[in-house]
Amino acid sequence: MQVFNTAARLADFIKQLKTENTAVKIGFVPTMGALHEGHMKLIKQAKANADVVLASIFVNPTQFNDPKDLERYPRTPQADLDLLKQHGCDGVFMPAVADIYPNGTAENYVLDFQGLDRVMEGAFRPGHFNGVAQVVERFFRIVNPDLAFFGRKDFQQVAIIKHLVRVKHLPVEIVVVDTARSVDGLALSSRNTLLSADQKKDALIIFKTLSKAVELARTEKDAKKVKEQLISFFNTGSLRLEYLEIADDSTLQPVDTLKAGCTCCIAAFCGTVRLIDNMPLNG
Ligand code: PAF
Repeated sequence: MQVFNTAARLADFIKQLKTENTAVKIGFVPTMGALHEGHMKLIKQAKANADVVLASIFVNPTQFNDPKDLERYPRTPQADLDLLKQHGCDGVFMPAVADIYPNGTAENYVLDFQGLDRVMEGAFRPGHFNGVAQVVERFFRIVNPDLAFFGRKDFQQVAIIKHLVRVKHLPVEIVVVDTARSVDGLALSSRNTLLSADQKKDALIIFKTLSKAVELARTEKDAKKVKEQLISFFNTGSLRLEYLEIADDSTLQPVDTLKAGCTCCIAAFCGTVRLIDNMPLNG
């Protein structure tokens, strides 16, 4: 597995790959490191669909609205490299901030997300999706992948990235991979390393509430009633709910009536750690 610390070195590698085989299919898995089985699920999917698999490890400063969150974001580069190598990743891009943001991180990046960024994560983390779109666009322009793989756990991020690809006409197919969970249901996340064993148990209220949402959606179609029941169930646990929303899969706007094509999304604090998760409701 090759490690590339600059965009220029990675670009040379990709140029060579494409010269040797013009039809080579590149699969790309962008990450912020602190890798876990969820990321490896993306790598496995990429290996099944592409000839060459590249990952990136870059804790992107422009997507953190809270500087403390950026500072304490887990960083485990050596363990990440070991894991990627074990899973057969072909190359890893680990750039410095200055390589991705040569004009500084305050540079203005503007994209009209047509409202996708105004709800849920976007409402609680101002500027977050702007930073995500900014870095993902830069990575796509550097790596020029045929396929890029993202986890469904970041439901709203997936919608934002699909929008980016559409409006900028980027020649990449977005592949969405199901959320990886612990045996008891906790969605795998790099942030879970910040939780104690007891907090991991407490955090299961998220999975239980989402599972209850799926169950309720089988018989009750009034979203307001379902939300009320879910919020009171969630509040029997010890986490602090930031939002619980039932969103339309395309517009991300809250729905009034449950139907196929909507998803229940939760963001909550377990101590000081912010967790998100979601589950599709089949109506
Ligand atoms: O999902 C993530 O880890 C990040 O938001 C991403 C897509 C790598 C962009 O920094």
